[in-house]
Amino acid sequence: MQATVPAGLDRKEAEIYLRLDPKRLPKHIAIIMDGNGRWARRRHLPRVAGHRAGVASVRSTVETAARVGISALTLYAFSEENWKKRPKSEVDFLMGLLCRYLKQEVPTLNKNRIRLEYIGRQQELPSTVRDKMEWARQATAHNTGMVLTLALNYSARSELVDAFRSIVDMASRNGGLDHLEIDEDSVSRHLYTRHLPDPDLVVRTSGEMRLSNFLLWQLAYAEIYVTPTLWPEFRGAHLLEGIAEYQQRERRYGGLAGDHSDHHSSKPVRS
Ligand code: FPP
Repeated sequence: MQATVPAGLDRKEAEIYLRLDPKRLPKHIAIIMDGNGRWARRRHLPRVAGHRAGVASVRSTVETAARVGISALTLYAFSEENWKKRPKSEVDFLMGLLCRYLKQEVPTLNKNRIRLEYIGRQQELPSTVRDKMEWARQATAHNTGMVLTLALNYSARSELVDAFRSIVDMASRNGGLDHLEIDEDSVSRHLYTRHLPDPDLVVRTSGEMRLSNFLLWQLAYAEIYVTPTLWPEFRGAHLLEGIAEYQQRERRYGGLAGDHSDHHSSKPVRS
């Protein structure tokens, strides 16, 4: 029997989709979007032209992920380090691009039933950007399809620091530190990603083999897929290629070959 291809996929995406097992899709995919600057340099364009071109890649990737039924997609849009170490003009451009993306994209997110969330130290972002983020979050909060999480001013080490602070703070308000018990579940519940299961697959574009301070706790058992494609050239079809590669892998969670118990990714997407 021929599998049904989800509505809206283009011919190339449909071709790749037919090679996938729809019952073994990753629930949560995280993407490190990289290579915007190199894409621009190769075209003798300013770096920001790469970021602008990267928005079309975000759009295509998000739509394809939602169409094939991925429950959660998390995009590393910019790190705390980007925020602190890049020229102000580039950071300002990225902030403007984000605000325009949020404004333009909400109707499409709603059409595709996508709910928007954020991770990162939002309090350090300009208040105009925070207002736009909160507006877009609320405008999509009723959606029950894929959760799209944007990592903005994000650092995994800062996230862990914030989680430990939050655990201690909560304990001191609930009977004091004598009763403090810390285990893996309690740490997970205090991370920014408490609304998500851990990613099954992490994709990095532009060929770099690093995690760059992204979801260090949550990626403990994720499959890593690195593609040489630069982010501005990445499209839904590339994502499906990554999923095809993921489905070739055998996930063992430290067990032996043939042990398919999948306990680490069983946490449902929470609202
Ligand atoms: C990495 O490329 C990319 C970024 C730091 C920014 C990512 C932003 C976008 C894709 C567009 C806006 C995002 C949203 C969600 C609307 P790089 O500049 O580090 O590239 P390089 O390593 O080649 O210099």
